[in-house]
Amino acid sequence: MAQIRKVGVLGCGLMGSGIAQVCAQAGYETVVREVSDEVAQRGLSGIRKQLDRAVEKGKLAAEERDRIMGHLRGTSRLEDLAECDLVIEAVVENLEMKNEMWRALDEICSPEAIFASNTSSLTIADMAAATRRPERMVGLHFFNPVPVMKLVEVVRTIATDPEVFRTAYDFATSLGKEPIECKDNSGFVVNLLLVPYMMDAIRALEQGVASIEDIDQGMRLGTGYPMGPFTLCDFVGNDTLDKIGAIMFEEYKEKRYASPPLLKRMISLGYFGRKSGKGFYDYSQDPPRPMDLGI
Ligand code: 3HC
Repeated sequence: MAQIRKVGVLGCGLMGSGIAQVCAQAGYETVVREVSDEVAQRGLSGIRKQLDRAVEKGKLAAEERDRIMGHLRGTSRLEDLAECDLVIEAVVENLEMKNEMWRALDEICSPEAIFASNTSSLTIADMAAATRRPERMVGLHFFNPVPVMKLVEVVRTIATDPEVFRTAYDFATSLGKEPIECKDNSGFVVNLLLVPYMMDAIRALEQGVASIEDIDQGMRLGTGYPMGPFTLCDFVGNDTLDKIGAIMFEEYKEKRYASPPLLKRMISLGYFGRKSGKGFYDYSQDPPRPMDLGI
């Protein structure tokens, strides 16, 4: 496999910080780019907190934490990714915003560098087309929480060079992940199946099939899922689910990807889930209590 030594990560939010963490843990020099140095440093502090927690639990040696943090650097300058062999993008699901970065990095990075996107629902080809290296573009789709979830979807477009794909696949394995190979269709494998499931749960709630708690408990105990669908919606973020669903609906024109009215009303009111303190559950309570959504 072509040698990957230095990795760039675009975005240090929930997914970007998890991706940066696992890259640094695996020993890669990792540069994380955010909109400002302050936001980048905040992202790195979040990673440090995660690692501190592992040290407190006795799961990680303090020296190991320091070694991992030593591999991480934050920046606001795209130019600081010039020497990266692989750049992984994990910014918001906005194609134009992503492509603006790819166009800039196409000039900054070596022509040999591989570009990868962690997009949930956009197609990789739509980003590859914005660069002069479509054959060096892949999808590397991680799952939340990135340090815990074993899966990475490795996505090839119709233009991806097989050797580039193999390098990306081996890279995912080198992170301790278990990759699967996917075609470049919107939602890849997991979101293709997971998004309609979450939307269907919301439709079932709208129809009064059962309560939030009972639907969650049904799917946990009846199918062994670690979280019921509403706990998962709040965990992923209802705003994120709505955005992914809209992109997939645009692609397939199938109702099962469309946000149900209840989800839209929740977004309008800021019921994004755990991150905003309110979603299908109210997180100011311990344990979180199901919200009264008037159904
Ligand atoms: N970040 C880092 N580590 C975390 C974490 C987080 N947010 N949440 C939990 N962990 C760690 C804990 O520290 C613990 O580690 P340890 O065993 O070394 O102590 C381990 O995970 C287990 O945590 P808990 O015992 O607290 O809780 P659970 O056993 O309930 O596991 C869970 C938590 C892993 C989040 C589990 O509930 C789960 O797998 N939920 C489903 C998650 C899922 O479906 N994710 C995919 C979402 S879809 C997606 O990401 C795609 C995108 O495109 C939308």
